[in-house]
Amino acid sequence: MRTILVTGGAGYIGSHTLVELLQNTNYRVISLDNFSNSLEKTYDRIKKISPRPLETLALDLCDKTRLYEALGRIGQIDGIIHFAAYKSVPESMKEPLLYYHNNLSSLNNLLSYANDNGINHFIFSSSCSVYGNADDLPVTEESPLKKAESPYGHTKQVGEDMISFFCKSNPSFNAVLLRYFNPVGAHMSGLLGELPLNRPNNLVPIITQTAVGKNALTVFGTDYPTRDGSCIRDYIHVSDIADAHVRALHFLMEGKNASNCKVYNLGTGNGVTVLEAIASFEKVTGRTLSYGIGDRRGGDVIAIYANNTLAKKELNWVPRFGIDDMMLSAWKWQQNLELE
Ligand code: WQD
Repeated sequence: MRTILVTGGAGYIGSHTLVELLQNTNYRVISLDNFSNSLEKTYDRIKKISPRPLETLALDLCDKTRLYEALGRIGQIDGIIHFAAYKSVPESMKEPLLYYHNNLSSLNNLLSYANDNGINHFIFSSSCSVYGNADDLPVTEESPLKKAESPYGHTKQVGEDMISFFCKSNPSFNAVLLRYFNPVGAHMSGLLGELPLNRPNNLVPIITQTAVGKNALTVFGTDYPTRDGSCIRDYIHVSDIADAHVRALHFLMEGKNASNCKVYNLGTGNGVTVLEAIASFEKVTGRTLSYGIGDRRGGDVIAIYANNTLAKKELNWVPRFGIDDMMLSAWKWQQNLELE
């Protein structure tokens, strides 16, 4: 049985990917997380959805000594899916050094361990933020990477370069870089979803918390050069993102990658404005959302959405859910959280 290590497995996208791995593959699955932005009880939620055993390690990837000791005890690892990183655009604007240290030291330690232990299949959680304020939309994987608008986006650009140069120096190492657009929504069972530990920064959890009276949504700017003045994003269901990871893993493990460092956009290809996202939530829930209009938020790009034809072609990946499904699943999850 081949062994897959998932770092950040207790997190939002990591937990949904663990479910897909446990339900749809025969790999031995191990999750590593330090719970800096997640809850250990997420593993209980995963186990309710997927019966297969899930092994877990509580560990900070920035602690190289402990990392080597812990991973050395679990035997040969055949592949790594690396999610563990801080991910808030506004938080990174306030705490750049925290982001550079956490996101890049952890990656460097993990690549070092892979290099020292013959692990040759690696999937990296990257982001559409590497494109910055793109000139032409939709962006393809060949689109130029503009200057990152935030330290968060910069850590993803640097992370991609670290892996790309490592692949150049080590032809037997195979990596896939997955550039997520805006992951939103929750597992269709309603048993798993985004669990912001503090006040969330991302739009969709703020929408659902506002709907239950736990937050107050402000639209950050309606004076952008877009069809309704608010920013455009490519919202993609988290389960579609998780499905792409399983497909990328098979792609690597079966040696289907023509080169040893491949990049894929994971988006629906549909740009949705903030106001349209709010309208979708109101439509599917039948609720009217109260929100204010505020100033633009530092670090935001005006518009970004994907050309996803390469992932469709090479990973045989097709996003299944639209914005209404995403909003409804997010709302169902928020309602279940209220019952806990
Ligand atoms: C979306 C839009 C805000 C909150 C995300 C993730 C990042 C990466 C890229 C994957 C923006 C607006 C938000 C609010 C608002 N994903 N907004 N009021 O910044 O696009 O980045 O996708 O790796 O991890 O953070 O997402 O949800 O914060 O913002 O008006 O209260 O919603 O201005 O236009 P963002 P977001």
